[in-house]
Amino acid sequence: MSRPVRVVVTGASGQVGVDLVDTLRGRTVRGARTSWHPDGLAVHSDEFEVLGLSHHELDITDREAVQRAIERTRPDVIVHLAAYTAVDRAEGDPDTCYAVNATGTGLLSRAAKETGAHLITVSTDYVFDGSKGSAYVEEDATNPQSVYGASKLAGELLCREEDTIVRTSWVMGVRGKNVMNVIVDRAQSGEQVRFVNDQTGSVTVAADLARALVTLVRTRPGGRWHVANTGTTTWFEIARYAGELLGRDGDFATPIATSELVPAPAAQRPVRSDLSTAKWQLHWEPLPDWRDAVTRLVTDRAPLVGDA
Ligand SMILES: NC(=O)c1ccc[n+]([C@@H]2O[C@H](COP(=O)([O-])OP(=O)(O)OC[C@H]3O[C@@H](n4cnc5c(N)ncnc54)[C@H](OP(=O)(O)O)[C@@H]3O)[C@@H](O)[C@H]2O)c1
Repeated sequence: MSRPVRVVVTGASGQVGVDLVDTLRGRTVRGARTSWHPDGLAVHSDEFEVLGLSHHELDITDREAVQRAIERTRPDVIVHLAAYTAVDRAEGDPDTCYAVNATGTGLLSRAAKETGAHLITVSTDYVFDGSKGSAYVEEDATNPQSVYGASKLAGELLCREEDTIVRTSWVMGVRGKNVMNVIVDRAQSGEQVRFVNDQTGSVTVAADLARALVTLVRTRPGGRWHVANTGTTTWFEIARYAGELLGRDGDFATPIATSELVPAPAAQRPVRSDLSTAKWQLHWEPLPDWRDAVTRLVTDRAPLVGDA
């Protein structure tokens, strides 16, 4: 019998990391659609041997520590999720942001090369400027508008052609500090919310992204891949939809323009950065529609109105 595929996951305590480690161990994580696997194959508990490394176990900016960790564990695949993700804070802290997102990614790519591992690294829609006017494909020209976006692009450029680069966007899990958790908390406590309606993008639910990453761990295709739930939306639409699921009426969410945000965010975000997943869909099942994904997230946090 063949041995399990050995997978090292960096950023294992982050919102995607926790769901990915559990998914690789054959568990169904909260927010997942039980029957959906992009390649039709469920994960068996003995298919992967998983080593999740959190920040305190491996600082990816430490060259020697990265080399030691990968040489010691000799993974078949590294899924690199560790990142500096505080988009607005990064504007005032570019050195740290670049050290993690660019240098750290380069170190992992090099360690993968030296040990014969395959690297899958996760990047962002913020590598684009949002001016295209339609969904971005993998080959589109990049032009990041923020330190975070530029640092993630710099990380991509430090990778080798053989590495797999996954660009995803607007990630939300059941855990962690994310917009969906804010929306659900406010909806349940009777408050109202204001969300921008002039930024269009693609939602990605962490549980679905984790299953997509499993497919990439199995197939190790190399190159760039856009991965997100199907359909485009705005933050206001997401809030309104989640509010309806939780029994809030039309006055729960108010649409505003980005220019009305107080305080104004430090980082500029693309106006329209939805990701085309056409390349993904040539090979595998699309990720479910964003409404289906948001419904699962909300349901797994709180019973829906009308449910027992
Ligand atoms: N969240 C989104 O909306 C979004 C959108 C597009 C792409 N992405 C990308 O998706 C990936 C996963 O994101 P996520 O949402 O899971 O982010 P997350 O919840 O912020 O997790 C990132 C993890 O990286 C760790 N980390 C930070 N600096 C590190 C370092 N120097 N060494 C090792 N670990 C370090 C953090 O640990 P500490 O918290 O302990 O520092 C955290 O556990 C990232 O590459 C991110 O850029 C995310």
